[in-house]
Amino acid sequence: APLENVENGLPAVRSNASWNTEVNSASGEDSTVSITVVGASGDLAKKKIFPALFALFYEDCLPKHFTIFGYARSRMTDGELRAMVSKTLTCRIDKRENCNDKMEQFLERCFYQSGQYNSEGSFAELNKKLKEHEAGRISNRMFYLSVPPNVFIDVVKCASKSASSLNGWTRVIVEKPFGRDSESSAALTRNLKQYLEEDQIFRIDHYLGKELVENLSVLRFSNLVFEPLWSRQYIRNVQLIFSEDFGTEGRGGYFDNYGIIRDIMQNHLLQILALFAMETPVSLDAEDIRNEKVKVLRCMKPLILDDVVIGQYKSHTKGGISYPAYIDDKTVPNDSLTPTFAAAAIFINNARWDGVPFLMKAGKALHTKGAQIRVQFRHVPGNLYKKSFGTDLDRATNELVIRVQPDEAIYLKINNKIPGLGMRLDRSNLNLHYAARYSKEIPDAYERLLLDAIEGERRLFIRSDELDAAWALFTPLLKELEENKIAPELYPFGSRGPVGAHYLAAKYNVRWG
Ligand code: NDP
Ligand code: BG6
Repeated sequence: APLENVENGLPAVRSNASWNTEVNSASGEDSTVSITVVGASGDLAKKKIFPALFALFYEDCLPKHFTIFGYARSRMTDGELRAMVSKTLTCRIDKRENCNDKMEQFLERCFYQSGQYNSEGSFAELNKKLKEHEAGRISNRMFYLSVPPNVFIDVVKCASKSASSLNGWTRVIVEKPFGRDSESSAALTRNLKQYLEEDQIFRIDHYLGKELVENLSVLRFSNLVFEPLWSRQYIRNVQLIFSEDFGTEGRGGYFDNYGIIRDIMQNHLLQILALFAMETPVSLDAEDIRNEKVKVLRCMKPLILDDVVIGQYKSHTKGGISYPAYIDDKTVPNDSLTPTFAAAAIFINNARWDGVPFLMKAGKALHTKGAQIRVQFRHVPGNLYKKSFGTDLDRATNELVIRVQPDEAIYLKINNKIPGLGMRLDRSNLNLHYAARYSKEIPDAYERLLLDAIEGERRLFIRSDELDAAWALFTPLLKELEENKIAPELYPFGSRGPVGAHYLAAKYNVRWG
């Protein structure tokens, strides 16, 4: 498949030549890949997985011989699955012309099998159908578990017994949540490993598939100007900020059992932090990168209550429109203490980062939607131009901002002389704005991750020891919050979140960006 399709310096999907160390057994004439989306009737399958598979097909990134099966309990014909899937497929902007043909070709390769998640018989039926489509070729099989976690093990057990490949690879993509704490996560891993080897398990954290998250290592390790500054010597604090301007909207049932710390911080933001703070890996090999991530995670101090603020959104009326409280969601108990917002200070106990506060903030129903990393540098020693900034010294420091989404950008705030005869300074941006620099549409995170899983590239998936290290940081805090029934600070829907977050930052001389 033509993976290299560079336009303006940005590969359409990516050039994977330097990463893929495993022989790719997916693309040969005599082999085939069957992708089974388990839970195909659900939200994630419709919203993300089928559209991502179509996008890969559209970009000619799928192997020549592939078949996609939807699997779930709901009764559906192949035609009904295709009708459902077709509603969410979109085409790349620059190639609209042959889009309908491509959609037809894609849908013709999508099939549906209804069955129970805990029935080996149902999976044996699926196996029969898969075999028909594989037509005697080497069969490689991918199962995407897009189902609630309580059925993960049933599916893995039945699929491994009745539907795994006999002559090719079998891989399983698992969606979060990977447990609720250290114990349940370890139990999930133990149970999965009854049926699978670790290298068959692809634990997805879709933030690792986002363009700017993937770019973090490129930025750090291929630019001389950044790496020397990347330490406590020059960096004052780092902020990792996630916000959504909508509430739980229909996912309250799931969310109430998890809360924002498990939903966003323990995985998405912590993964970004690990990539941000890890030491240089030996190579770009998946194991080398994941080894470094585990090391830095294990250097982090477990979170303590004094360094955490939690919040929950309450109803708010603005411009005549009334926005609901979290507990107005019918699937949420009305005395729920589940946080929909959290801010935390994290410290890394190693030579590079000793004393540097890493501040995380994540919230739903806030005033804005976005995800960004903000790196605030120290003051220039003996700054000659101090006076030009008055008393607001913060204004005189450099700040690097990596805007993960929306409107991807990387910009560096620098001090600059305002042109003219006087000597006045202001802070201006050196700006790498993706929309202006690259004309190519940025692929969705799920596209990158699905392609990697098909190719056996593991560097963007979470290894079990990484997961253990991540839970070890958050589990004591989560236990304390829940056992002591700590009440979240209420904040109005659409606001900037609880003021406690500002006090937390102020404690470490930080101002949220
Ligand atoms: P859904 O709740 O839509 O469930 C997917 C399918 O699983 C359903 O269509 C249903 O299919 C089956 N199902 C639902 N509840 C049960 C149950 N209690 N027991 C057995 N089967 C059930 O989930 P999503 O599609 O939203 O998410 C799938 C997975 O991905 C989950 O693990 C979720 O946490 C995770 N995830 C979802 C995200 C999202 O944006 N939706 C984002 C990140 C992760 P049927 O009845 O036909 O068998
Ligand atoms: C999911 C969370 O993992 O990420 C959701 O479960 C959240 O609560 C979503 O809305 C955010 O993803 P994105 O890609 O839209 O920022």
